[in-house]
Amino acid sequence: MTDIFSLAGKRALVTGSNTGIGQAIAISLAKAGADVVCAGRSSVDETVGLIGAEGGKAQGLKLDLGDPMAGKDLFQTLDPIDILINNAGIIRRADAVDFTEADWDDVMDVNLKAVFFLCQAFAKSVFARGGSGKVVNIASLLSFQGGIRVPSYTASKSGVAGLTKLLANEWAAKGINVNAIAPGYITTNNTEALRNDENRNKAILDRIPAGRWGDAADIGGAAVFLSSPAANYIHGAILNVDGGWLAR
Ligand SMILES: NC(=O)c1ccc[n+]([C@@H]2O[C@H](COP(=O)([O-])OP(=O)(O)OC[C@H]3O[C@@H](n4cnc5c(N)ncnc54)[C@H](OP(=O)(O)O)[C@@H]3O)[C@@H](O)[C@H]2O)c1
Repeated sequence: MTDIFSLAGKRALVTGSNTGIGQAIAISLAKAGADVVCAGRSSVDETVGLIGAEGGKAQGLKLDLGDPMAGKDLFQTLDPIDILINNAGIIRRADAVDFTEADWDDVMDVNLKAVFFLCQAFAKSVFARGGSGKVVNIASLLSFQGGIRVPSYTASKSGVAGLTKLLANEWAAKGINVNAIAPGYITTNNTEALRNDENRNKAILDRIPAGRWGDAADIGGAAVFLSSPAANYIHGAILNVDGGWLAR
């Protein structure tokens, strides 16, 4: 019987895969059989090593999306990529009245502009070879909610949700599935400040039906699913992996 969740024979690229959710996704894709290009602005040696230690296939790639056009020609220089995971992201916190232009631009560049132009470069390469592909963008609860003290993050992640649907509409009939995952509160560097704030931490935990913060590994399975043949008829979906937060 064919395993519809298998990624054997597929090549995936994961941005920001040196740590956190990106690292967990890279490991999960490799466990499902994909050959993974681990991209990062920091060294991805640890992720490549962890995948290799489990018998998986991975290679590292330097990719700093602080220049959101950095990936413009990327897919012309790599062996064909079937799966693109747009995971890299940053967050800046300040009251809206004090928020700086730099904190707006930096976040929008990495979280939204780079995502769009990487999707575009990926699609061009897939269409040029007459192939098919899967894109999984990492959205957020703040694709649906307002949040507080994170204006550019909320704007960027709301944008990721909209972009995911727009690209799905344009590319569904052309062989590329574009979907997103909206992680809930996951224990990574991104959320360290929240966990260190006793009051915010308690308020968050009290609202999560699952009663715990998520682990980065909780996102890996969803990424495998949306990258696999099991998701062939899924287009423009945003899959919440949030311990039930949005159901509350
Ligand atoms: N943790 C959560 O609760 C949560 C919830 C919803 C959505 N998310 C999203 O999940 C994604 C991963 O975040 P995370 O929680 O795993 O946080 P993280 O541990 O801070 O990881 C963020 C990743 O993005 C990379 N990155 C940042 N700026 C970059 C740039 N200019 N070029 C290339 N890579 C860059 C980071 O690289 P460096 O290590 O070099 O900085 C790191 O690999 C982000 O898109 C985030 O918004 C997280």
